[in-house]
Amino acid sequence: MTILVTGATGSVGGQVVSQLREPVRPFSRATGGDLTDVDSVREALTDVDKVFLVWPFFHTEGLDRVLEAIAGQAKRIVYLSSAGDPEWARAAENLIEQTGLEWTFLQPTGFAANALRWANDIKTEAVVRTPFGTMSRPHIHEYDMAAVGVRALLSDEHVGAKYTLSGPELVSQFDQVKIIGDVIGRDLRLDEQTPEEARAKMLTTGWPEPVVDGAIAAWASMVENPEPIVPTVEEITGTEAKTFRAWAQDHAADFKA
Ligand SMILES: NC(=O)c1ccc[n+]([C@@H]2O[C@H](COP(=O)([O-])OP(=O)(O)OC[C@H]3O[C@@H](n4cnc5c(N)ncnc54)[C@H](OP(=O)(O)O)[C@@H]3O)[C@@H](O)[C@H]2O)c1
Repeated sequence: MTILVTGATGSVGGQVVSQLREPVRPFSRATGGDLTDVDSVREALTDVDKVFLVWPFFHTEGLDRVLEAIAGQAKRIVYLSSAGDPEWARAAENLIEQTGLEWTFLQPTGFAANALRWANDIKTEAVVRTPFGTMSRPHIHEYDMAAVGVRALLSDEHVGAKYTLSGPELVSQFDQVKIIGDVIGRDLRLDEQTPEEARAKMLTTGWPEPVVDGAIAAWASMVENPEPIVPTVEEITGTEAKTFRAWAQDHAADFKA
């Protein structure tokens, strides 16, 4: 039997594909699949018994049909959800709970990989422009999310679990920039944007307005109330969650000019 991995060219799905030793079918537009085209999903499900689902949209439109196709073939789904209760993630979880599939939900805090959005400005100007420089998050490495996901795919003991996942320590955005600078051997500067400047810039990248406003409000609140640090990665994998510095070392090439 085969494991279907969606978001397979993305940060977490890509790690799931590389960590699995079992037969795996990567699914993304790069491999000719499209989650907005349920027929392409159905085609990719031949011989599939388990699915790692990245649903890379800020809505659940069309997810019911995709889940119906999955439930018609597979028996288990591991869904990359989110901590912090975003509406689309809870809606997706509700739909999955109604399918009859065995499920596990991964609810990660902010991804270390979000720093990749700074790569271009770091390469060209040695600067990071972002609001809320003192906002600290327990950034999680995609390796660790995938390591938990792979165990949930392969072992029955994670069926029905909702796992909050985080990195091992809180790191402010000022410190993230310093760490990336240390790792690539360059002096980097963080230019703090106002929330209004950040909002205007994010809207130009095509994010829907309610999602932009929700993200900025969430970041503002994290300055005082950061996301929790939880031991789940270590409890499930037996290995301590990777630090933001380890992530930056793994991704140094992405930030080098
Ligand atoms: N960033 C965070 O801090 C954070 C926190 C909690 C949860 N999350 C959740 O994590 C998920 C994103 O995971 P990620 O960062 O690993 O993804 P990612 O690196 O942004 O990659 C997105 C993946 O989705 C694929 N994709 C996009 N549109 C598609 C389509 N129409 N049909 C099929 N595949 C499509 C892309 O491949 P192609 O381009 O080849 O199609 C790519 O493989 C989201 O659901 C997000 O809500 C993120």
